Amino acid sequence: MKNIDLNSNLVGRDFLTLRDFSREEIEYLIELAAYYKEKKKNGERVDEYRGQNVALIFEKTSTRTRCSFEIAAHDLGMGTTYLDPQGSQIGKKESIADTARVLGSMFEGIEYRGFGQEIVEELAKYSKVPVWNGLTNEYHPTQMIADMLTIKEKFGKLEGLKFVYMGDARYNMGNSLMIACAKLGLDFVACTNKEYFPNEELVNVCREYAKESGSTITLTEDVMEGTKDADVLYTDVWVSMGEPDSIWEERISKLMPYQVNMKALKNAKETAIFMHCLPAFHDLKTKVGKEIYEKFGITEMEVTDEVFESEQSVVFDEAENRMHSIKAIMAATLKKSK
Ligand code: CP
Ligand code: NVA
Repeated sequence: MKNIDLNSNLVGRDFLTLRDFSREEIEYLIELAAYYKEKKKNGERVDEYRGQNVALIFEKTSTRTRCSFEIAAHDLGMGTTYLDPQGSQIGKKESIADTARVLGSMFEGIEYRGFGQEIVEELAKYSKVPVWNGLTNEYHPTQMIADMLTIKEKFGKLEGLKFVYMGDARYNMGNSLMIACAKLGLDFVACTNKEYFPNEELVNVCREYAKESGSTITLTEDVMEGTKDADVLYTDVWVSMGEPDSIWEERISKLMPYQVNMKALKNAKETAIFMHCLPAFHDLKTKVGKEIYEKFGITEMEVTDEVFESEQSVVFDEAENRMHSIKAIMAATLKKSK
């Protein structure tokens, strides 16, 4: 592994969206995540942040992000306080600005998962400590470092790869992946129904990033053209947390043609990988999966079980990398303990 400068120049920065970070800074975080992954595999201690504490606010549910923040913080020597959707005054009896000032006076860093991006921005504005976005409706930036690390591990590079996102491309995952690809030089394709293309303003911003990195942004409704010779096929749930159940019917009818199935995967390169941020609806082993089956008669949604379980699927490597990358993000933005 490359020598990495552990004196990060990102100390004190918030991590709200990759829009705020340069290509070099993003590449640094990916390298740092790989560094921490190796340390973990070797069983080496990295508790240079001993005695510090971080607050973890979750207004939406989580498995990976919460566990990653908790394990990463503990490995770094830090304590954690988890605030669940019901267990605090946030937003109901106390404004975000007041919460930010209270938590900022007790903790060295704050993670927030919830609804609008403006909430995490307000939190960052009023607290004097780094704030990390653990997912909002608009962005999921910590997931990006894990995803790009995973792709780099599989292909040995990022630049020049064809990355295809299928499904709901106008929400947190589609937006964030388009930004990450454009900044890091991967050719990004949103292959979906045009109503689910990322919004035009963000597409234009990303086209500017892509110009700089020498990559491209393509929006297409044509599955065969979109997935042809792809290196990465990526998808996410069709209905995200916080969206009403009433939209399932429309999503299923509009997005079913963009399900990642064997036909799409076979149309990609032989070496292509399948990625998903998880959780995924690929069988009937979930409550929601069963309900959808009873209502609409479908047994799998955004990805078929065959693709999900195939040799080309790297979803569990991706999930593991969440922890290493969140560790890197916290370590890079916090001061080491004395
Ligand atoms: N990918 C992801 O953010 O998973 P969780 O919702 O389980 O945190
Ligand atoms: N788009 C999904 C991502 C989950 C990690 C959601 O917001 O629910």
